[in-house]
Amino acid sequence: MGAYARTNVVESKTASVSRLQRDAEAHVVCEDNLKFMRDQPNESMKLIVTSPPYNLGKEYEERRSLDRYINEQTACIAETVRLLHPNGSICWQVGNYVHKSEIFPLDVILYPIFTNHGLHLRNRIVWTFGHGLHCQNRFSGRYETILWFTKSKSDDYTFNLDPVRVPSKYPKKKHFKGPKKGEISSNPLGKNPSDVWDIPNVKSNHVEKTSHPCQFPVGLVERLVLALTNKGDRVLDPYVGVGSSVIAALKHGRHAYGCDLEQEYVDIAWERIHQLRAGTLRTRPMNKPIYDPNSKATNETQRYI
Ligand SMILES: C[S@@+](CC[C@H](N)C(=O)[O-])C[C@H]1O[C@@H](n2cnc3c(N)ncnc32)[C@H](O)[C@@H]1O
Repeated sequence: MGAYARTNVVESKTASVSRLQRDAEAHVVCEDNLKFMRDQPNESMKLIVTSPPYNLGKEYEERRSLDRYINEQTACIAETVRLLHPNGSICWQVGNYVHKSEIFPLDVILYPIFTNHGLHLRNRIVWTFGHGLHCQNRFSGRYETILWFTKSKSDDYTFNLDPVRVPSKYPKKKHFKGPKKGEISSNPLGKNPSDVWDIPNVKSNHVEKTSHPCQFPVGLVERLVLALTNKGDRVLDPYVGVGSSVIAALKHGRHAYGCDLEQEYVDIAWERIHQLRAGTLRTRPMNKPIYDPNSKATNETQRYI
C-alpha cells in the first residue's frame, strides 16, 4: 500500500454479512471529490478515469444551470490535473446534457478546460452501444465519448498497446510481394482496438448490473487501465459510483482510489471488491464479441455475459 493510502474501516451496510471496508490496494470512501482529492499528494495518480454526472437530474444529482455545472467541473478538473503524474493520463467519459430537447455535447464544452491546463488530447474515443432511450424527435443516441488527455507534450506518456490488442480480422493474411512475401503480415498479438469501441452499456440484463443507473462496463475501464498504466500504478475515479474503475484497476494489480457522495454506492463498490478478491465477481470479458441475434455462433445465454 502507498505510504499515503489511508485505510477505510467503515462497515458495509448492504452486505448480508457485515464486512470491513478494507483492502490493501483499494481506497474507496463516501466523500465529496474535492475534499477527497485535496488529501492526495501532487502528481500521485497515473490514470484518472471517470464519468461525471451529466446534469440530467438522475437520482444522484440535482439539475443546476449549465454555468454552475461547468464551474463545478472546472474545480474538479483542476484538482485532477494537480494529482496527475507527469507521464499520466486523464480520461473523461461524457455524453450529452439535454435541455428543452436541445443537446449540448459535454466533451465539446469541457475540452477547453483541459487544454487551458496545458493537457494534450491523444484520442477522442467513441464508445458506441446498442441500448438506450428511443427518441421521438431526433435520432436515438447510441454513443458517448472519452476524452483521453496526457500531461506530457512529448511521447513519454505511458501507452501499452500489446495488452489491449484485439483479434485481427484476417490473422492469416500474408505479404504478397517483397522480401517478406509469404510471411504473415499482421501482428500475431492482434490489432490496435482503434478509437471506436463497441462495448455493451450496463442495462438491466447485463451481468455487472447493480442498482446504480449509469455504471461503467468494467471492460471499458480495463482497456484504459492496461494501456495507460503499469502494474503498481495508482488509478483514481473521483465519481466512483459502484466502483467499476476500482474493479478494473484491482483486477490488473494497480492501486485504486475513488470517492462518491452516496454511501449506498460506496457500499456496493466495497461488496464488489470483496467479491473480486473472493473470485466470485462476474464481469463481462474485456474483448468479448458483441451478441449478434442473427449469428448461429452466439445464443441467448451468451448474450449478457
Ligand atoms: C455517472 S455516475 C458514475 C458511475 C461510475 N462510473 C460507476 O461505474 O459506478 C456519477 C457519480 O458521481 C457521484 N457524484 C456526484 N457528485 C459528486 C461529488 N461532488 N463527489 C463525489 N461523487 C459525486 C454520483 O453519486 C454518481 O454515483
